[in-house]
Amino acid sequence: MRGDKDSIDPAAYGIETVPSHVAIIMDGNGRWAKQRGRIRLLGHREGAKAVRRSVRFSYKVGVKHLTLFAFSAQNWARPESEVAGLMELLMEYLSGERRELIERGIRFRTVGDIERVAPRVREEIARLEQDSSDGTEMELIIALSYGGREDIVQAARSFAEDVKAGRVDPSSIDIESFSKRLYTGAIPDPDLLIRTSGEQRISNFMLWQLAYSELHITDVLWPDFSEEDYATALRDYSNRERRFGLTGAQVTGSK
Ligand code: FPP
Repeated sequence: MRGDKDSIDPAAYGIETVPSHVAIIMDGNGRWAKQRGRIRLLGHREGAKAVRRSVRFSYKVGVKHLTLFAFSAQNWARPESEVAGLMELLMEYLSGERRELIERGIRFRTVGDIERVAPRVREEIARLEQDSSDGTEMELIIALSYGGREDIVQAARSFAEDVKAGRVDPSSIDIESFSKRLYTGAIPDPDLLIRTSGEQRISNFMLWQLAYSELHITDVLWPDFSEEDYATALRDYSNRERRFGLTGAQVTGSK
C-alpha cells in the first residue's frame, strides 16, 4: 500500500534524511495527567493516542522500523493498578489497530521478557505477530518487559550455555554474533532515539543497540507529542553528521 495517498513526501516537512530505525522513550504520561489533576492512567490512555499518531506518521514518512519503549523490566514494580491499566491499554491497542497494521503491511513484534506478561496478553501479541508477519512496509517493535541490561545478560547466558555444551567456540563470539542473540536479533540498530519529557537519560533502554544512535530530547510530554514534534525530531536528525568513530573529513571525503 506504500506510494498510495497515505504516504507523504518527507521534503514537505523539511526532512532530508529519514532514519531507517527510530526508537522512542515515551516519557511524561504521569506528569501530563498530574498537570490536569487526573489519575496517571489517564495520561497513559492519552499516551496510547500518541502511539497511534507516531506509528501512522512513521509509516507515512517511510521509517522502516519503529521501536516504542512501552513497559520496562523495572515498571513491574509500579502499583498493581497502573500495571494492569497499562496491560489493558496494550490489549486495546492490539485489537483496535490490528486491521490497520495488517492492511498497511506493518509487521508487529515485541522485544523483552515476554514470559512475565499475562498469558491472555501474550496470546494476543502472538496472534498479531503471526498475522502481520508478512508485512514488509514497516516494522513496529514494542519493547515490553524490556531492560537493556537484562537483554545483554540473557544474550550472555545463552552464549554461556552453548559454550558449556560445546556448541560455540568462545573465540567465535564477536559483536555481530552477540547482537544476534539480543532480543532485537537481526533488527538494525536505531539511527535515532527520541525521548520526550526532557529527561536526559537512557533509562536502561537498548544499551547495546544505541551505541551510535543520534539522540533527540524534547521537553514535550508524550501525550502531547504531535506529528509536528516528530517532524522536528526527524529534521534535527537530518542535520546530524554521523561519524561512527571516524573523523568528519573521513565521513564527508573532504581533506
Ligand atoms: C512513561 O511515562 C510511560 C510509560 C511507562 C508507559 C508508556 C505507555 C503508553 C504510551 C501507553 C500504552 C502503550 C501502547 C503501546 C499502546 P511515565 O508514567 O513514567 O510518566 P512520568 O515520568 O511523567 O510519571
